[in-house]
Amino acid sequence: MAGLQPGGYGINGQGVKVLALLGSPKKGGNTERLLDEVLRGAKSEGADIEKIWVHAKDIQPCGEIFDCIETGICPINDDMVDIYEKLKETDILIVATPVMTLGIPAKLKALMDRCQTFWAKKYILKDSFISPGKKKRRKGLFLSIAGLNWSKVFMGATQTVTAFFDIVDVEFTANLLYNNMDQLKKIENHPTAMRDAYEKGVELVRMVKATG
Ligand SMILES: Cc1cc2nc3c(=O)[nH]c(=O)nc-3n(C[C@H](O)[C@H](O)[C@H](O)COP(=O)(O)O)c2cc1C
Repeated sequence: MAGLQPGGYGINGQGVKVLALLGSPKKGGNTERLLDEVLRGAKSEGADIEKIWVHAKDIQPCGEIFDCIETGICPINDDMVDIYEKLKETDILIVATPVMTLGIPAKLKALMDRCQTFWAKKYILKDSFISPGKKKRRKGLFLSIAGLNWSKVFMGATQTVTAFFDIVDVEFTANLLYNNMDQLKKIENHPTAMRDAYEKGVELVRMVKATG
């Protein structure tokens, strides 16, 4: 199509899809404000943006029904039906979450657990849900905020997100991790976070465009 690069992306970035999963139950909190900076950067490169406030979605926990192991399909009928499609279509996947009890909020964890259906498809049924061409373009960003001033505070969440990105066939490309928020209070009080976030949004879209 005229004006498109080999990968189907417009020279201004049209067609690069960004899906952001906001894990914080709090709208307008530190996590969302930082995420919005990443998205502003990505939008400046022409990407198509979608942000899902996971807390507001109807997402039941995995019930270990195990239909997915036979069929690759989860029988639970809730908002995951749409979210599965969006996870398959995106080029850039952002997980943005506060640390909770050294892990991630329960609703976001439920979303990730429900992606066992992708795991089953990939590792049991040996059936790819993403074309090989698309797979190499998919980039993942983990953005997280924590209250404590402790260097290991993101370890649990990072492990979970690493597994999740592997399951949904996204390359774990970058981290934006900011702790000590109990002292800082507002993410805007951090000397570089907002600028780093904007620049990361720009960089990720450029990386996808460069894959052609
Ligand atoms: C239920 C709950 C559990 C939390 N657990 C931790 C924790 O284990 N470690 C930590 O450093 N901060 C913890 N926090 C603090 C949050 O990570 C921190 O306040 C963050 O800035 C919240 O971001 P938000 O306002 O965008 O939701 C917890 C907060 C809540 C509400």
